[in-house]
Amino acid sequence: MALPSFYNQRVEIANFEEMKCYVGFNDADAANVASLARYIRPSIPQIVEHFYEVLLRSPSAKVVFTGGEVQLTRQRQMLTMWLTELFDGKYDNDYYDRRLRIGTAHVRVGLPQQFMCLGMEITWQEVRRIIKDAKLRDADDKLDSLHKLLTLDLATMLETYKEAYSEKIRADERTAVEERLTRAEHLAEIGQLAASLAHEIKNPLAGISGAIQVFRDDLAPDDPRQSTITEILGQIHRLDAAVIDLLLYARPTPPRAADVSLADTIRRVLNVLAEEPALQHVEVEFDHHAKDIHIHADRGQIEQLLINLLINAAHASHDGGAIRVNVTHLPDRIRLVVADSGKGMSPEVQSRAFEPFFTTKAKGTGLGLSICRRIVETHGGRVFLESAIGRGTTVVVDFPQPPAIPLAKASP
Ligand code: HEM
Ligand SMILES: Nc1ncnc2c1ncn2[C@@H]1O[C@H](COP(=O)(O)OP(=O)(O)O)[C@@H](O)[C@H]1O
Ligand SMILES: [Mg+2]
Repeated sequence: MALPSFYNQRVEIANFEEMKCYVGFNDADAANVASLARYIRPSIPQIVEHFYEVLLRSPSAKVVFTGGEVQLTRQRQMLTMWLTELFDGKYDNDYYDRRLRIGTAHVRVGLPQQFMCLGMEITWQEVRRIIKDAKLRDADDKLDSLHKLLTLDLATMLETYKEAYSEKIRADERTAVEERLTRAEHLAEIGQLAASLAHEIKNPLAGISGAIQVFRDDLAPDDPRQSTITEILGQIHRLDAAVIDLLLYARPTPPRAADVSLADTIRRVLNVLAEEPALQHVEVEFDHHAKDIHIHADRGQIEQLLINLLINAAHASHDGGAIRVNVTHLPDRIRLVVADSGKGMSPEVQSRAFEPFFTTKAKGTGLGLSICRRIVETHGGRVFLESAIGRGTTVVVDFPQPPAIPLAKASP
C-alpha cells in the first residue's frame, strides 16, 4: 500500500535525527564544522579539482559521463555546492532533504555504488589535509565532528542509492518480461499462420516445379527457352527456401541432443555450401588442424545456425573477401565465431538485425538471424554481434559449458 507522501517525509526526518544520535552528532559538532568554513571555502576549487583528477583516473567512474564536458562542468558545480553546504552549520530537515536526492542522481547516471564511498574518502583526505596544514589548536576535535557529518551524508546517499537502484532493477525486469512476452506472442501468431500457409504453398510449388521440368525435358539443350526455364526454376527454389525458413522460424523442432564435433559440423556445412552461389566469390577460412571441440547439442540445428551465419557473411562480403570461422574453449563456455570483413552494419541495422522479418536485402526473408538466436537460446547460449560499416561483422555464439539445459526437454 502506498503511504501518503507527508508520512514518508516524517519517517525520513525521524531517521535523520536517529542517525545523528547514533554517531553522537550534536550542536557542538555542528558549530565545530561551521567554524572550519573559513579554512575550507577558499580551497573548494582545489578540492573539486583533486576529486576530478582521481575520478578520471578510474575507467569505471569515468564512463558515467556520457554527457561529455557539459555534464562534467555541471557535476563540478554540484560538488562545489555540496561542499559549500557541508560547512553551513545548519543540519536540519532541509539539509537532509537535499542530501537524499544525491544518491538517486548517481543511480540515474549508472555510477557503481562503491564510488560513493570512495568519493567520500577522497573528499575527507583532502579536507583533513587542509585543516591539518592550517595548524589549528583544536583541529582534531573539529575533524572528529566533520568526520561524523561526512558519515551521515554518506549514510543518507547510500540509503537513497539503494532505493533508486532497486526501483531501476524492477523497471529493467519489467521491460525484459514485456519483451519476452511480445516475442512469445509474435511467435505464436506467426506459427499458426505459417503452418497453414506453408502447406498451401509447398505442395503447389512442388507441382509447378515438376511440371516445368517436364517441359524442359521436351526442349533441345540449345533451345533459347532453356534460360527462361532455368530462371523460373531458380525463382521456385527461392520461394521454397523462404517457406522452409518460415517453417523453421514458426515451428522449431525440439532439439535432440547428441555429442557434436564442431569441426566435423563445420566441414559438413562447408561441403553442403560448396554449390551455394553466394559463397562462390568468397574464401572461408577454418583451421582444420585446431583441437576439435565437442558440444552437447542438436546437430541439425547447429548446421542450420552455421549455414545462416555463413550465408549472411557471404552476402555482406566483397568479391574475394574472406570469412573466418573459429571455435575456442573459454573457461565456462564454448565460443563459435563467424567473422567477415564485408560491408558491416550501421548501428540502426545492428540493433534490429535479430528481429524477425527485418531485412535490408531485396530477396531476404529477415528470418536468418531470428532462427539463429532461437537455436542458440534453445541450447542455453547467447548470440551477439559486433559490426562496423566498411570493416565487417563478427557474430559470436557462446554455448554454456557444461550444457545449461537438459536438451531432451522440448522447447515450446
Ligand atoms: C562524495 C561523493 C559524491 C558527492 C557528494 C556527489 C555529489 C553530487 C551531487 C550533489 C550531484 C547533483 C545531484 C542532483 O542532480 O540532484 C551529483 C551528480 C552527479 N555526480 Fe556526483 N557526487 C559524488 C561522487 C561522484 C562520483 C565518484 C562520480 C563519478 C563519476 C559522480 C558523478 C556524478 C554525475 C555524472 C552526476 C550527474 C550530473 C548531471 O548530469 O546532472 N559523482 N553528484
Ligand atoms: N554478416 C553480416 N554483415 C552485414 N549485415 C548483416 C550480416 N548478417 C546480417 N546482416 C544484416 O541483418 C539483416 C537480417 O539478417 P537475417 O535475419 O539473416 O535476414 P536476411 O539475411 O534474410 O536479410 C540483413 O538483412 C543484413 O542487413
Ligand atoms: Mg540471412
